[in-house]
Amino acid sequence: MRKILVIHGPNLNLLGKREVDIYGRVTIDDINAELKKIAKTKKVALEIVQTDHEGEIVEIIGKAKGKFGAILINPAAYTHTSVAIRDAVSAVEIPTVEVHLSNIYAREEFRHTSLIAPVAKGQVSGFGILSYCLGLEAAISLIEK
Ligand code: DQA
Repeated sequence: MRKILVIHGPNLNLLGKREVDIYGRVTIDDINAELKKIAKTKKVALEIVQTDHEGEIVEIIGKAKGKFGAILINPAAYTHTSVAIRDAVSAVEIPTVEVHLSNIYAREEFRHTSLIAPVAKGQVSGFGILSYCLGLEAAISLIEK
């Protein structure tokens, strides 16, 4: 199934204006445009969503089974808190790649723990927009396996 679900978590709609010293000037539209370019070259379809709501992310993941070959997710702050999102990823058994713009291990201690990472196939953290691009490449290779 050459279709990948891309989920941007809370506050990522504010990229470009938000904590630019950490996240840079890149916007969510810039990220999505890069992902669409890669998807076109690799002949995969993307569905891209952004939401600030944990329950909505849980619902979207819960409905993804049978529709998507992989999930690319930046759970943002929910990375560090959400058992519900972790359980959803685990439940649907869709290969999932976790991405972060910043290096979460080089920041405050509360960001060093990802509740999602143990149920994800892998994680890319710290490369800005490139984290998403590398994450998408990884997700594509997972669906091609
Ligand atoms: C983030 C890192 C998280 O700790 C933070 O809460 C975010 C963004 C990142 O992409 O670097 O909102 O996921």
